[in-house]
Amino acid sequence: MVTASASGKVILLGEHSVVYGRPAIAAPLSGLRARVTLTPHSGPLHIQAPAVGIDAPLPDLPPDHPLARIVLLTAEHYQLPLPRAVLRIESDIPVASGLGSGAAVSTAIVRALVAWYNVRPDPARVSALVYEVEKIHHGTPSGIDNTVIAYEQPVYFVRGRPPERFSPRIPLPLIIADSGIPSPTREVVGDLRRRWEADPSRYEGLFDRIAAEVEAARRAIEEGDLPELGKRMGRNHELLREIGVSSAALDRLVEAARGAGALGAKLSGAGWGGNVIALVEPPQAGEVERALREAGAREVWRTDVGTGVSETGRVADHG
Ligand code: PMV
Repeated sequence: MVTASASGKVILLGEHSVVYGRPAIAAPLSGLRARVTLTPHSGPLHIQAPAVGIDAPLPDLPPDHPLARIVLLTAEHYQLPLPRAVLRIESDIPVASGLGSGAAVSTAIVRALVAWYNVRPDPARVSALVYEVEKIHHGTPSGIDNTVIAYEQPVYFVRGRPPERFSPRIPLPLIIADSGIPSPTREVVGDLRRRWEADPSRYEGLFDRIAAEVEAARRAIEEGDLPELGKRMGRNHELLREIGVSSAALDRLVEAARGAGALGAKLSGAGWGGNVIALVEPPQAGEVERALREAGAREVWRTDVGTGVSETGRVADHG
């Protein structure tokens, strides 16, 4: 039997503008994972994904199904026969919430298939394979999700350039709150693209302003200046509102976190729904968590970004 896993991810700053060539910063969520096991069996490769109701031999899935696509791409790229095995997928990462569940599942599948043949995968290659499947999920993905998940390290990312990996000077204590509302990445990205096409100069100007916040945030992360980072996250949220990817529910969560003492808060990922992230001083964390729940968060996680050993803990629901 072979097992492999891949982490979720969080975009700290720069979502959407990253599709238009501006920088973004993202980090893995090492404690929230997708897991794949391959168990020998007598027939051809069989896929089990109980969370989405799939229990079928590979040829029964359409070839452009994301699960079939990543399996076939991996086999083709590494020139490997399909194993006679059951490939089972399980994941702690909520679907369609901006935490990278699709890219994590694809990455775990690549890792499991190559591990079956004792091949050591190169993160750049894994990232490139997963990117092909992200196109099915996203339409025009920037590549940030597959990059941060394949490397499993914080990255400063500009589309088309090799990712710059970095470690924050001090861990970044984050609270992640799921609005419980799906974030339809493909639609949000497509909707923004139509508005950009109608008025490119307005949106290019807003993307430049987001880029300036990302650059300032990067310096703050390198210097360990949490209040400055929080300020930049807050400004990034305001700019995301201006480009039309926030929602009343997300704004309410951001306000609640700020009101409870967070250093900064913003939506993370494609928006309309999905998650809000809040940067906190550890003594404020309990208060911020409570406020986020009262403002409607379905689930709340706590994580320290950047220590490399951080576990993402699900915060017990006292409500
Ligand atoms: O998968 P999500 O919801 O985290 O969105 C990805 C981030 C976007 O910048 C909105 C799209 C992209 O491809 O970078």
